[in-house]
Amino acid sequence: MKMLIPALMLGMTTFAALANDSGADQIKRGEYLARAGDCVACHTKKGGEPFAGGLSMATPIGDIYSTNITPDKKTGIGDYSYDDFQKAVRHGVAKNGDTLYPAMPYPSYAVVSDEDMQALYAWFMHGVKPVEQANKESDIPWPLSMRWPLAIWRGMFAPDVKAFQPIKGQDPVLARGQYLVEGLGHCGACHTPRSLTMQEKALNDSEGSDYLSGSSSPIDGWTASNLRGDNRDGLGRWSEDDLVQFLRMGRNDRTAVFGGMTDVIQHSLQHLSAEDATAIARYLKSLGARDPNQVGFSEDAAVAKALWKGDDSKPGASVYVDSCAACHKTDGSGYHRFFPELRGNPVVLEEDPTSLIHIVLSGATLPGVKDAPSSITMPAFGWRLKDQQVADVVNFIRTSWGNTAKTQISASDVAKVRKTMAEPQGDVGVEKLNVVK
Ligand code: HEC
Ligand code: HEC
Ligand code: HEC
Repeated sequence: MKMLIPALMLGMTTFAALANDSGADQIKRGEYLARAGDCVACHTKKGGEPFAGGLSMATPIGDIYSTNITPDKKTGIGDYSYDDFQKAVRHGVAKNGDTLYPAMPYPSYAVVSDEDMQALYAWFMHGVKPVEQANKESDIPWPLSMRWPLAIWRGMFAPDVKAFQPIKGQDPVLARGQYLVEGLGHCGACHTPRSLTMQEKALNDSEGSDYLSGSSSPIDGWTASNLRGDNRDGLGRWSEDDLVQFLRMGRNDRTAVFGGMTDVIQHSLQHLSAEDATAIARYLKSLGARDPNQVGFSEDAAVAKALWKGDDSKPGASVYVDSCAACHKTDGSGYHRFFPELRGNPVVLEEDPTSLIHIVLSGATLPGVKDAPSSITMPAFGWRLKDQQVADVVNFIRTSWGNTAKTQISASDVAKVRKTMAEPQGDVGVEKLNVVK
């Protein structure tokens, strides 16, 4: 008897420790999945507490505010049951029955598995610090603020999608990549064009080649590029390894991340495991071209030769030599890992030049990340170059070295982007020339 009790107790403590352990594991997995879903990006206002909401998001009818999803019982989701939580995240229905604005990417999250939803729930309930912060009403005036039309939208455009099921016999790495891209990654929320009624034209590849073929209009002043296999403005010429490096470090030998994608790398993708980054890359590489007839890039040395000879008669060439060539080089090849290649770069060749105008006006900073800690800055030119000069230099990089972008841009296109820009355009950036932290 004397022996039995301690043995039994020992058995019980081991069991309790095990149960706790698997609980802790589930919470940890939930944290990882919350990163894959980038929940923090939208649910945190600038300088605010993580997940406490209050970030304003523009919609065509007025600003709305993300909500507090910390486990605070009064102002957050502390009293949400698992079912309340999964209904909000996967189906866009709040606990009180209201339909959520699709600024919350629930049409993508619909494919997330029950097991992953359980882990996310465990993390939000037990891993996130509760913060008391009341939700803010939207600025949308009545009657547009009524939520019932959102329920109709949801019924039409976010039909009850089932959790993701890999196709029988599918390569498990591809299936994992597809699951992450379509679901938690909600890549289509930015990279798929939208219809007039604002739904994504395709929620997955089986719904057509609009899927991930690039945003139809700029998001916060940046166009989200074509991620399909197109040879000129898509990822057709990138290798799987190019993509893995971009996703994990925001840079590779061809490009460096900027605009709205910077946050995605910083808050979400840099934290993914090497296996998951590879899965995403492999899945993106499996997508066919939107336009299989697109002629690929082929290099043409004429412009670089002219510049070497001191001939800058091509419009925009003198601005390029004065302001850009020190970093991006006269042949547009840049310096790998520091200054992106402009020659044959899909973002330079995409039809919508908004991002290019924007980056010349405002500059950009490539943030340091875990696996590539140096931060590098492109200075802003908006304060120094006139609209016509910006138009000239952007047209120049789009039609030199073999680049053959079709749309010509004008000074008024530049003026339009200038107006919508949130960044300061004052005398910033010059003294920050390629600061390496
Ligand atoms: C692209 C922005 C965006 C991302 C990413 C995002 N959310 Fe949201 N979410 C919102 C907005 C905006 C709302 C409020 C919508 C409304 O008021 O109709 C919301 C609402 C919610 C709600 C409903 C809260 C309530 O008060 O009923 C939950 C729960 C939620 N989000 C959880 C998540 C989780 C979990 C993730 C990550 C897996 C996530 N969200 C990622 C924008 C986002
Ligand atoms: C908030 C909007 C947003 C979301 C969400 C988003 N992206 Fe992006 N992405 C952009 C923008 C804007 C660009 C263009 C800037 C750049 O190339 O760095 C871009 C660029 C890229 C590029 C580089 C393309 C090129 O030709 O240089 C890749 C690759 C990419 N995104 C992959 C993804 C993947 C994978 C996901 C989902 C896990 C994703 N993005 C989610 C906005 C977004
Ligand atoms: C001091 C060096 C420097 C100068 C000068 C400079 N850039 Fe950049 N450029 C960069 C860096 C660094 C990046 C990456 C920024 C980031 O990722 O946030 C970049 C990014 C870009 C990109 C986006 C390409 C991509 O794939 O990420 C374009 C387009 C661009 N620069 C064009 C220009 C033009 C046009 C000029 C002249 C008006 C110019 N740059 C001057 C350093 C420079």
